[in-house]
Amino acid sequence: MDSRGGFTSRIGFILAAAGSAVGLGNIWKFPYETGQNGGAAFLVIYLALTFLLCYPVMVGEIAIGRKAGLDAYGSYNKLGGKRWGYLGLYGIICGIMILSFYNVVAGWAFGYFLEISFSDLLEEQNYGVYFGRYVVDFWDNLIFSLCFMVITAFIVIKGVQKGIERASKIMMPTLFVILVALIIYSITLPNAMDGIRFYLLPDFSEITLETLYSAMGQAFFSLSLGMGALITYGSYVSKNQNVLKSAATITLLDISVAFLAGLLIFPLVFSQGQSPEQGPALVFVVLPGIFQTMGPVLGKIVGGGFFLLLCFAALTSTISLLEVPVAYFVDEKKIPRKISVWTLATLVFILGLPSMLSQGAVGAFSSLSFYQEKSTLDFVSEVFSDISLPLGGCLMTFFIATRWGTHKMSEELSQGNPNYKGSFYEGYINFTIRYICPVLLGIFSLLIIIDKFFGLEQLR
Ligand code: TRP
Repeated sequence: MDSRGGFTSRIGFILAAAGSAVGLGNIWKFPYETGQNGGAAFLVIYLALTFLLCYPVMVGEIAIGRKAGLDAYGSYNKLGGKRWGYLGLYGIICGIMILSFYNVVAGWAFGYFLEISFSDLLEEQNYGVYFGRYVVDFWDNLIFSLCFMVITAFIVIKGVQKGIERASKIMMPTLFVILVALIIYSITLPNAMDGIRFYLLPDFSEITLETLYSAMGQAFFSLSLGMGALITYGSYVSKNQNVLKSAATITLLDISVAFLAGLLIFPLVFSQGQSPEQGPALVFVVLPGIFQTMGPVLGKIVGGGFFLLLCFAALTSTISLLEVPVAYFVDEKKIPRKISVWTLATLVFILGLPSMLSQGAVGAFSSLSFYQEKSTLDFVSEVFSDISLPLGGCLMTFFIATRWGTHKMSEELSQGNPNYKGSFYEGYINFTIRYICPVLLGIFSLLIIIDKFFGLEQLR
């Protein structure tokens, strides 16, 4: 364990895991998913799924990692035998693919930071048009996302302790503060209340099957679940930590940031007379508008600061995504950390090129004939996160239920939490992981696959 490094403190692990959770998923994806799926009703379902299903999944993942003390593949292999090792590999592949498109979007955020701070982005008239132009600019995208990948690689080389803990400790609280300050400003704008209504007053007649599984996918993505990221981080956690408490803190932090991001975005959407259903462009179109109203100097400072923090949030997430395959190479293949990192970073970057070029730059990538004419970025994101993460969660809970055993998980969880056995929490976690998660997540995953590839309407 020592040679692999470990988190120095409870707060170190929490910050790193929360840093992994809080990222573009909260500030970029959550608002546009909420906007596309009916607003408040989506929020309610998302919160319910997070507490009922995702929290136990998170506890289970960390427990597996801490017990085995290895990467995702090694952990399953050690606790369940070679066949289960494939589940770890599955997660590693998902991680690589998620990072490939995530890094592209992180590159957008980085570009916006630079353009606001050092160029004249805040003098634009129409940010919808601007964004459309921005994402087809090949060289800008290439360079900014390359920068992002290189920075991620450098931090991952330094290892969990030094790289990840330190970065998270400063950025997270600052992000919180700037979000709250911007919300206070944004709700004073005209028509802001329409946004609040859209976001907080649920209309359950809007709910469709798609709302349900989009919320599921979003919850898994946002909490970094279902692909072994928390198995990997869990392997660096010391035995005297209370996993249940840590997982609760991480979940709450993650939800709060997503909730605040929505509270900021929707008043802005409505006060600017925009549509909440614009998809991935949403925050990039809406946010510059608020910075523009602050005047040239303050706008540059606050806007630049905001996008810089978004980049840091994304960075603590890309670190965790890269750490999963890196840990596998280091632990299982005994390849030195440095070589593993550079090889994987290069691979991921190349895999991300089609997504990068799929926003209109190259027609063939922008509209996939076999996938409802959606972009490659949508395709990769939907297949490897919306579909694969809940499926990964289903298989992971199935692993605990049928192979490792909830009693062994309980034993692991009572380390650092002596009163765990026999408590209400134990009953709840065990019941959910044994019965609810494998079944519900299995059904969800099946429905998403059928819907995405064949279209559910045709079955009705
Ligand atoms: N949770 C991160 C976000 O919300 C993204 C992320 C980081 C992730 N690591 C992950 C998603 C592992 C799934 C699995 O931005």
